Amino acid sequence: MPAEPLLAVTDLAYAYNGVAAVRGVSLDVRQAEIVALLGSNGAGKSTTVKAIAGALKPQAGSIRFDGAAIAGEPSHVVVRKGITLVPEGRLVFPQMTVMDNLRMGAHVLGSKAEVERNVARVVGIFPRLAERRDQLAGSMSGGEQQMLAIARGLMSSPRLIILDEPSLGLMPLLVQDLFRLIKSVNESGVSILLVEQNVHQSLKIAHRGYVMQKGAVALSGTGQELLGNDFVQKAFLGR
Ligand SMILES: Nc1ncnc2c1ncn2[C@@H]1O[C@H](COP(=O)(O)OP(=O)(O)OP(=O)(O)O)[C@@H](O)[C@H]1O
Ligand SMILES: [Mg+2]
Repeated sequence: MPAEPLLAVTDLAYAYNGVAAVRGVSLDVRQAEIVALLGSNGAGKSTTVKAIAGALKPQAGSIRFDGAAIAGEPSHVVVRKGITLVPEGRLVFPQMTVMDNLRMGAHVLGSKAEVERNVARVVGIFPRLAERRDQLAGSMSGGEQQMLAIARGLMSSPRLIILDEPSLGLMPLLVQDLFRLIKSVNESGVSILLVEQNVHQSLKIAHRGYVMQKGAVALSGTGQELLGNDFVQKAFLGR
């Protein structure tokens, strides 16, 4: 029998003031996978990932991570268990330096030595951040701030990092760099749940993907299967 997936979401539901946003979503992320979560605006992607990360308390469903039930746990507990959400928008601390932003991401870690080890690891993946270690985060370009937000998410040593629309607002050239970086983060051993509007690029790097529509999963398959799917091509790829 195959091992239990790293993350297993079953029949997740969430409503804002009685209005359903997520209705019965089930999805898995296995160890070392990149899984894309796609869907048009308002489909329920951010609500789903916020519930997984403990930012919203699901009203129904189960969320299991590494074999333990985590649905309803607050986000600081979920982070300690090994899931980090990098939310929509570049939420860096603008008045703090790059290095201080990174260290903030590690506040759940016990030892100073581990924090410094993680700084070395993330600047290895994002060398640009080392060059800019003493720059105020708010004065960096949009693309650099997005890299910093992802790097900060990696500072808590997550086993699963959830990226909500990391390419939003980046110019196409930077989007390519960003997808390369996401791949290298994955190759360093971190599983990734990737929410993206950039459907083609996401499916190219994703092992598997899910397409949400109106709060539910409408389609799922491997990256290749979804790239070739008629509905995906018509709805998202303009073919
Ligand atoms: N704080 C909120 N209060 C009320 N309704 C909300 C709230 N946040 C989201 N919604 C609604 O829940 C539904 C799902 O929203 P969600 O943000 O999860 O979609 P999404 O797939 O992430 O969309 P996008 O691609 O635009 O980011 C939408 O109809 C949205 O209007
Ligand atoms: Mg969203």
